[in-house]
Amino acid sequence: STVDWEEASYDTAGHAHFLIKEISEQPSAVERTLSGRVDERFATAHLGGLNLDAREARAFRRVKILGCGSAYYSGELGAQLIEELARIPAHAEPASEFRYRNPVIEADTLYIAVSQSGETYDTLAAVQEIKRKGGRVLGVVNTVGSAIARECDGGVYLHAGPEISVASTKAFTSTAVAFALIALHFGRVHDLSPADGRRICAGLKALPGQIREILAKEEEIAKLAAQYAQNAGMMFVGRVRGWPVAREGAQKLKEVSYVHAEAYPASELKHGPLALIGPELPTVAVVPDDELVEKNLTTMGEIRARHGRVLMVGHTAPDPKYAEDCILIPKNEPELDPILLGIPLQLLAYHAAVALERDVDKPRNLAKSVTVE
Ligand code: G6P
Repeated sequence: STVDWEEASYDTAGHAHFLIKEISEQPSAVERTLSGRVDERFATAHLGGLNLDAREARAFRRVKILGCGSAYYSGELGAQLIEELARIPAHAEPASEFRYRNPVIEADTLYIAVSQSGETYDTLAAVQEIKRKGGRVLGVVNTVGSAIARECDGGVYLHAGPEISVASTKAFTSTAVAFALIALHFGRVHDLSPADGRRICAGLKALPGQIREILAKEEEIAKLAAQYAQNAGMMFVGRVRGWPVAREGAQKLKEVSYVHAEAYPASELKHGPLALIGPELPTVAVVPDDELVEKNLTTMGEIRARHGRVLMVGHTAPDPKYAEDCILIPKNEPELDPILLGIPLQLLAYHAAVALERDVDKPRNLAKSVTVE
């Protein structure tokens, strides 16, 4: 089913910018992405548009996800969800790189193209290259009937609603949710247990309410953003589940505030970028309460020892010696936590841009949809 969007979608509806309107719309965007797709009885997800029966879904040995910009980073979250829940090797790559490198297309790889607009030329060209070589490609797309959606063999529509602001927020989050549904579905045709499937179903259903709880922290995050925006640059770090979140957090800050931001896997810091750390370069550390929390605290300790300021985003406040500032969010299932951890970073980027009086909805040099090479 498609939703008929009223003219009101194209108005900021009392918000200062489309970006904050769209950030605030995420509870309902996620509800629509989930709507009718979570099957608690059989602990799976129904995605009729995939056009894959169970035997076909089982036959794939690998998943390759393609997209550009935030679509690529949401694909990285997706790859992690598919590996964790379905135990199928999955990898994301920028569509723009893939299409230029004469990629090997394999019959037992499932290709998934991600695009909010469905019109990004590099992503479309990647899809066409896969099809020319006989590969099977699904789309995770927001815009119904768009070029990429039409070119794919099937897929999942986000139903997130129109996204006007150049920087993607609700489409990013809805894409991650769509990947959680795909991963649950593939997991249940493989070896994910009904008990684990039910755990994920319950976690998915809890997301909209938990997003509302995070949005309620806007004022607290705005204060931190105004302070951190005064620095020339910021480092973002995360490990495993926190890593794609850190990458998208850095992307968002760069796009809308023009503050230089670099993302590094937390464990790679000591292999080079630690040389940059000092009082003038603060770090955002994405630290979910999972089995890696101790490792992440060690990294934060290394940063603090070099007088770097740390803003931790996670579930439990650490000893103050590890982080000067902390944004705490509600805990979901470990596999789904990354979806929520991205949201405070959107608010951080938005309020940094506001504090610096940037052109929030139309950042310089960027276009919402890049339909040229
Ligand atoms: C442009 C936008 C990005 C977006 C990317 C992919 O570069 O500035 O915000 O993530 O395109 O767009 P898509 O519509 O394919 O998701």
